[in-house]
Amino acid sequence: MYFSNLVLATTAVVAGATGAAAATAGQQQQQQRSVPGSGYVASNSTSSNSTAGNGDGKPRKMILDNDWAAVAFIPILQALDAGWDVVGIVGDTADSWALQTSMHGLAGLELGNLSECIPVHKGADYPLLNTPELFQVWSTLHGKLPWEGAFAPENKTAEDLGGEPTSGDPRRLSKAAFAEGFPKGHLAGEHAAAWMVEQVRAHPGEILIYSGGAFTNIALAVRMDPAFASLTRGLVVMGGYIDSVLLGAATGRTLLQADYVSDINLKIDPEAAKIALTADFPEITIVGNGANQVFPDQQFLDELVEVENPYTTLLHGHTDMTLPYWDETAMYAFLYPEHVKDSVSFYLDVDTAWSSPYYGNIIGYQEALKPKAQKLQKVNYILEVDGEDFKTSVKRAVQHPKKCPL
Ligand SMILES: *[C@@H]1O[C@H](CO)[C@@H](O)[C@H](O)[C@H]1NC(C)=O
Ligand SMILES: *[C@@H]1O[C@H](CO)[C@@H](O)[C@H](O)[C@H]1NC(C)=O
Ligand SMILES: *[C@@H]1O[C@H](CO)[C@@H](O)[C@H](O)[C@H]1NC(C)=O
Ligand SMILES: *[C@@H]1O[C@H](CO)[C@@H](O)[C@H](O)[C@H]1NC(C)=O
Repeated sequence: MYFSNLVLATTAVVAGATGAAAATAGQQQQQQRSVPGSGYVASNSTSSNSTAGNGDGKPRKMILDNDWAAVAFIPILQALDAGWDVVGIVGDTADSWALQTSMHGLAGLELGNLSECIPVHKGADYPLLNTPELFQVWSTLHGKLPWEGAFAPENKTAEDLGGEPTSGDPRRLSKAAFAEGFPKGHLAGEHAAAWMVEQVRAHPGEILIYSGGAFTNIALAVRMDPAFASLTRGLVVMGGYIDSVLLGAATGRTLLQADYVSDINLKIDPEAAKIALTADFPEITIVGNGANQVFPDQQFLDELVEVENPYTTLLHGHTDMTLPYWDETAMYAFLYPEHVKDSVSFYLDVDTAWSSPYYGNIIGYQEALKPKAQKLQKVNYILEVDGEDFKTSVKRAVQHPKKCPL
């Protein structure tokens, strides 16, 4: 989920999130409109109101990999509301350590009794190469990120006050951060990458991978099974802010860049981001800059809680209104491509030069200029969605959450 910086950026949702400078995200109106996702066609969802899904007739399954926090559960409810089968969720290391984020994921499911039918698998503790120590040296060389996620210096005082664990021992839990309640149940497994490989092999062409945090586990799955990416239904990403100049160079258009340009999802594990985002997923949708579009406000939170349930009550009391609906916007853009108002596509690379100030940032290329010595993927990069319809769909998903059995 959250912030980080410079030119690109990242994840989402809110929670007892610390930090986060607020600024208004400037959204630019674009003339041309395009809808990403080649194959999305309205299909009959089993349970609810959605037009999402590829019209391929295959079951629509999803795995959500995210750095879950106290009120980060909305994307799960959105997917269920749209009629998707959530095969399971994965907790990764980005805003905090994977164990902590996995337990938040579990707690979020338990609020709606959904843990009975949706398992939680913990991801890797550490990024592929990066460590808190290396990250701090890099910051000293190239400047601090406004949001350092799990790599922020350890701070016991902040943890005792409800902050998520950062640096130090990745296997410790900080119960004070569980505003949603500490989970009663257990994780289904601790090797998320292996589990994802098994699931994708068992359901070829059916499983969409939603990534709202770092790419460590997806990269591990890609390396573990060379067919992993191609056997999925695609990849949807929250994160990956791109510099307006680079984007202009990639697409021939300019973009008024939002001020929220924080990218811990990519910058905490740049090598994994590169492996995942250059793998041959049938389709890759990225919601970076566009994820800054919609913010929670008091009126919306008041409307949500008109229908009282554990989810609406928690959101009403614990949503940080300074942070945009990052992860939720990414999920929405995938589920409702007909409500995407603006997007571009370009070939994407990730800077993995540790010595670079752009280490972990996205680089975009147009066809004629893309590197010849590597095989980059052409991604759909979402710039704007229908903000009003977004709110309507989030409201429906949290006010009337699906129940097990799904
Ligand atoms: C969609 O579902 C409805 C209600 O179950 C059914 O009447 C309709 O024929 C279905 N449409 C398609 C295209 O399958
Ligand atoms: C689906 O949502 C649309 C508006 O978003 C609404 O008009 C329609 O009645 C809904 N259909 C169902 C079956 O809920
Ligand atoms: C979850 O299950 C408990 C025990 O059966 C029940 O009291 C509670 O209302 C359920 N919560 C939701 C959100 O369905
Ligand atoms: C640790 O967290 C506390 C509480 O948020 C804060 O006041 C303090 O400045 C932090 N310490 C450091 C070294 O950042």
